[in-house]
Amino acid sequence: MRTVLQKFIPMFGAILLAANLSASAAADLNIQITAQGKPISPDLFGIFFEDLNYAADGGLYAELVQNGLFEYQATERIDWTAMTAWEPVARDGATGSLKVSDAVPVNPNNPHYVVVEMKSPGGGFGLANSGFDGIPVQAGGQYDFSVFGRQLFTGNHWGGNGVLASSSRLVVRLETREGAVLGEAVVEISGRDWQRFAATIIVTNSDPAARLVLLSQTKGAVALDDISLFPHATFRNRPNGLRADLAQAIADIHPKFMRFPGGCLVHGHSLGNIYHWKDSVGPVEQRRGQENLWGYHQSLGLGFFEYFQFCEDIGAKPLPVVAAGVCCQNADDQGGTGQRGLPLEAMPAYIQDVLDLIEYANGPTNSTWGAKRAAAGHPAPFNLQFLGLGNEDAQTDVFRERFKMIYDAVKAKHPEITIIGTVGPAPDGSDYDLGWKFANEQRLEMVDEHYYEKPEWFLQNLARYDTYNRTNSKVYVGEYASQGNALFNALAEAAYMTSLERNGDVVHMASYAPLLAREGHTQWRPDMIYFNATNILLTANYYVQQIFGRNQGDVYFPATVSAAAPSSGDSTKSVVVSCVSDSGTGDIILKLVNGNTNAISAQVTLPQSFPIKPRATCTVLTGDAKASNSFRNPGAVVPAATEFAAGNSFDCSVPPESLTVIRMKTR
Ligand code: AHR
Repeated sequence: MRTVLQKFIPMFGAILLAANLSASAAADLNIQITAQGKPISPDLFGIFFEDLNYAADGGLYAELVQNGLFEYQATERIDWTAMTAWEPVARDGATGSLKVSDAVPVNPNNPHYVVVEMKSPGGGFGLANSGFDGIPVQAGGQYDFSVFGRQLFTGNHWGGNGVLASSSRLVVRLETREGAVLGEAVVEISGRDWQRFAATIIVTNSDPAARLVLLSQTKGAVALDDISLFPHATFRNRPNGLRADLAQAIADIHPKFMRFPGGCLVHGHSLGNIYHWKDSVGPVEQRRGQENLWGYHQSLGLGFFEYFQFCEDIGAKPLPVVAAGVCCQNADDQGGTGQRGLPLEAMPAYIQDVLDLIEYANGPTNSTWGAKRAAAGHPAPFNLQFLGLGNEDAQTDVFRERFKMIYDAVKAKHPEITIIGTVGPAPDGSDYDLGWKFANEQRLEMVDEHYYEKPEWFLQNLARYDTYNRTNSKVYVGEYASQGNALFNALAEAAYMTSLERNGDVVHMASYAPLLAREGHTQWRPDMIYFNATNILLTANYYVQQIFGRNQGDVYFPATVSAAAPSSGDSTKSVVVSCVSDSGTGDIILKLVNGNTNAISAQVTLPQSFPIKPRATCTVLTGDAKASNSFRNPGAVVPAATEFAAGNSFDCSVPPESLTVIRMKTR
């Protein structure tokens, strides 16, 4: 079978090649690495996290209770109320009532809470939460429960004899759908003012879809808010932390940076829907959740502090994105308005918020926002270097005016921050052209290009950056994907990534998108990692990102590829090659993408000046190019690593339809 990769690869000159299928003992290819390298970006491959497809609440954020703040509303989804994901529970003849109130909120940013009035005890009256498609729990696991509560005076229902009980007993259980108890704890709600109460539940039996049940067993009423349940074992055991398996899968990519909290999410569907980072920091019960542009509620429990902390934990440079003072030009189906600009009189406050973000990340602990970072548990700065300004915005005067106001103010105060501009949603077209024109006029350091295209496009565009002007803005390929999760898509991306390495002097960063998608709540395909309550599914695209992420370099060495034997008929054998070195380890890393349905033998020669040690590793991702991983068959396409005998000259066989990476030591 002749693949599309084969079909297009011969278009790209010296790095590509036609060779003889019939060559047997002799190698098909000679690959000669040149000694003269060029420095490339040390930050080339990273990740882009967007709260899309339930990537945050119900995803990376480890909170197991859905709508624990009682802030879901019909304005977000027509069938949603403050009680979505909750239902009343009465046990053994208990009676009572539930109501939602906003009379005395925990915080004005979080106005609603539930009032549980227990009238006759029985086995307890209260409410149950079904989590995000059920609450997954594991036998022997510890789960950290917490709630804000206070006792209420409700007419005749003080408690036993018309006297306010000193405390109101609240039994907290994890139960199966059928009501079997998996674990239990008790908290005593006391006092007329809001306080936080906490308990640990140890679970006896695993259940992929349990419920959290709260039963009031004291006559009278309590108000409850911010009802929360976390697995004790979050990623790096951070409080208010991240789901460990998902976070680990992301960490395993070894991304050099992380862009967050989104693309379109950030500029919102209307001016009132712009994402304001300040709403996402401080105690969770004080954060102002809001409608997510992607059509669900975002609690902002996963907020900027948690994003910065995660970046630090996985060794990725943080790249927050803020709106450029305008909202999305599209998003009409989400009730959007089209592009609008913040009123000019609102811009100074908005600009101050952007400056405060830099202070929050980097400021000393005696600065206003540095102190808030320290209060959250991180006195040391987060070393913010990059700031995304805008996302795919229509290049209008309204946009340009506000972009420039923000840009100038940030640059005046923080010349050390690299601001990344935006050049539209596509690899060409009017926003691309106008965006680049604006970038050149403003002498922006970097712009963000996006493209979601067919795999053929990636293969046809391997030379895209070869001719980019090296004196213009650097490029961040902030979002790209080849519209599929089959191995063939992943190999097209891999081939393209070798071209990004070759152009790593002009392409400073690149990130696949979207990163995460919850099964049953996936709004955008393809994605890199799919997950449900208990499992994660790593795609072939994920493995390509992981292999490139783990094998990044900072110097690129051009390769000369030539046919080792005279051509005898089939001239379509082609391989894309990239060679980099990593100055941190001294390792030399050779990447080969083979689009053929046949293995290719190659003789590789490295300069004598490279002190190559014999012991190397070879990582290969190969298989049926049409295959993709699924929850049923997660192992259809997975990489395998073996030891490899390297040297300054060696033979290797590159498997059919594969990405092969040979990592050689020099120290
Ligand atoms: O990655 C999904 C969306 O694609 C992003 O929000 C947006 O920037 C792009 O259009």
